[in-house]
Amino acid sequence: MKFFADTAEIADIRELASSGLLDGVTTNPSLVKKSGRDFLEVVTEIAKLVKGPVSAEVVALDHDGMMKEANRLRKIADNIAVKVPLTPDGLKTCKKLSGDGTMVNVTLCFSANQALLAAKAGASFISPFVGRLDDIGQPGMELISDIRMIYDNYDFATEILVASVRSPIHVLEAAKIGADVMTAPPAVIWQLFKHPLTDAGIASFLKDWQATGQKIA
Ligand code: G3P
Repeated sequence: MKFFADTAEIADIRELASSGLLDGVTTNPSLVKKSGRDFLEVVTEIAKLVKGPVSAEVVALDHDGMMKEANRLRKIADNIAVKVPLTPDGLKTCKKLSGDGTMVNVTLCFSANQALLAAKAGASFISPFVGRLDDIGQPGMELISDIRMIYDNYDFATEILVASVRSPIHVLEAAKIGADVMTAPPAVIWQLFKHPLTDAGIASFLKDWQATGQKIA
């Protein structure tokens, strides 16, 4: 399972990248606003920092406008995945960009039929928002299972990128279903490392080791 960081904070991305476990980055207009950075500037920096796909979202709502923005974004670097919303214009744009060999992440997916449409449009990634479905009392993970089944039925190459991930439990459930990618805020990714028994084990091993008076190097 690939791990993407859902953030536009350079320091957080740099720290995660140094773990060797970061496969890509996703941004959206809200995350750019939160970073306080210039969009094109920060995306350019991220695309240099991380080798894997970096999602950058268009904001136009019509196909021509989306294409104009996408043309600017895809010029930034080869690892840019243009993010488009799951609308008829978004999918038309997806089809065109995918045909040109540009990676496309179709975002704001809330139903399996929407995911089916995105796959038919040649999306590289489909982003179902599990947390936002949970927020309105609909089980987000059921959507991931449904998409997995549909994509496997037809051998679609579109990768399921689980988004709106809010906790390590979301990551675990997505991995059990066989989602291809998950994107999460850096804090959630760091939480995955933690277990109180790991910390307690290190403390007791260290205490016993010190009592031996030995050194390894
Ligand atoms: O990148 C889109 C998605 O991950 C947003 O998450 O927590 O704002 O629903 P959230």
